[in-house]
Amino acid sequence: MNVLILGSGAREHSLGWKLKNQGECRSIWIHPGNAGTRQQGFQDFGDVNCLRGLVSKAKDYSIDLVIIGPENLLAQGYANAFRKSGIRVVGPDEEAARLETSKVFAKNFMLKAGIPTAPSQVFSSYQDLISFPRNHWPWVLKLDGLAAGKGVIIAKSSDEVRAFGESVWLKNLFGSGPHQVLAEDFIPGLEVSYIGFCDGDRFLPLASATDHKRVFDGNQGPNTGGMGAISPSPHMTPELESKIEKRVISPFLKTLKESQLNFRGILFIGIMIDENGDPSVLEFNTRFGDPETECVLPRLEGSLLNLLIATAEGKLKEISPPQWNPKTSVYVVACAPGYPESPQKGAQITGLESITGDVFLFFAGVASKNGGLVCDGGRVLGVGSLDFSPAGARQKAYQALSRLHWTGIHFRNDIGL
Ligand code: GLY
Repeated sequence: MNVLILGSGAREHSLGWKLKNQGECRSIWIHPGNAGTRQQGFQDFGDVNCLRGLVSKAKDYSIDLVIIGPENLLAQGYANAFRKSGIRVVGPDEEAARLETSKVFAKNFMLKAGIPTAPSQVFSSYQDLISFPRNHWPWVLKLDGLAAGKGVIIAKSSDEVRAFGESVWLKNLFGSGPHQVLAEDFIPGLEVSYIGFCDGDRFLPLASATDHKRVFDGNQGPNTGGMGAISPSPHMTPELESKIEKRVISPFLKTLKESQLNFRGILFIGIMIDENGDPSVLEFNTRFGDPETECVLPRLEGSLLNLLIATAEGKLKEISPPQWNPKTSVYVVACAPGYPESPQKGAQITGLESITGDVFLFFAGVASKNGGLVCDGGRVLGVGSLDFSPAGARQKAYQALSRLHWTGIHFRNDIGL
């Protein structure tokens, strides 16, 4: 089988790495990939960038399965186009991807399905937002639409609400609009990422994981794309999993069918666990999580390819749920100086040859220069390891990371603590 993975991050590298290790694919392409994935032997499709060109090249190369990594490609109808051309795709159609690309669409879907979620209001103008009477804080404001992780704030005062409203409607920081903002009550608790293969009829979960979103230790500093993860999630229990199955997954699948949405891809549910141990859905994503995927896939036992094909063909009912290595996985992301506000490019990465043995390393924001690799994006690469104890996995991952260097390298020291 020939597989094409679309995307350029560590998530896509980890998918290629797992498929390659399992030896069931004839060829694996990662497009556009990055200098690190190319160094690891994954070819790209060259300078083809438009959708039509990609589909045509995929046909030329007899691609049997396409896995779509980033949400912006789903939002642009990439899954529809590959599917229409007769190629199997892991990724929902554009309409179903609105569960991620539109916060308002997702909230309405949750309400229709009866999925537990925070009470909310929708605002379509600056005036409406700032004049809404609000006397308890914080208040979570989410721009409707993709905003590269910058469209959500947790406002603690009316000044912060006003500043966010200004950036949306008066300063046009997210384009000229029209815009909507979903405002919802803040739910305190512990966050869990619940991700799985979904073909519209069935949902098969990946092992649980918890991402660490803030840039600094102790969950301080601004939000990032994700600074590292631990799997299994320390917050997941069989009791909680059964609540999620009953209160979230089952109504989700029923409503998906009623809404006639074509979902053959990855469903990622961001869940807050409240003080009573009850789940409340924060968001849906319609793709693999990053860095959860890099952390979780090393624990997968059994064929990833079979799971992906069954997802693409709508045959998840015919296969057994995946089994997971009981070891803990800890994965730490290392970043370029200035990340997340203004990552600087160009610093030389050294020490890569010393990363051997019982660790895995996935590349993201790297470019090649003078035969080596340099930083070329915010999240540069990640290193992880498995062990019977979280402490052991942490120690191995951090020990490996300590052998890497570039000017201004930074990472969190408390991943998995
Ligand atoms: N880890 C969060 C995300 O992939 O959106």
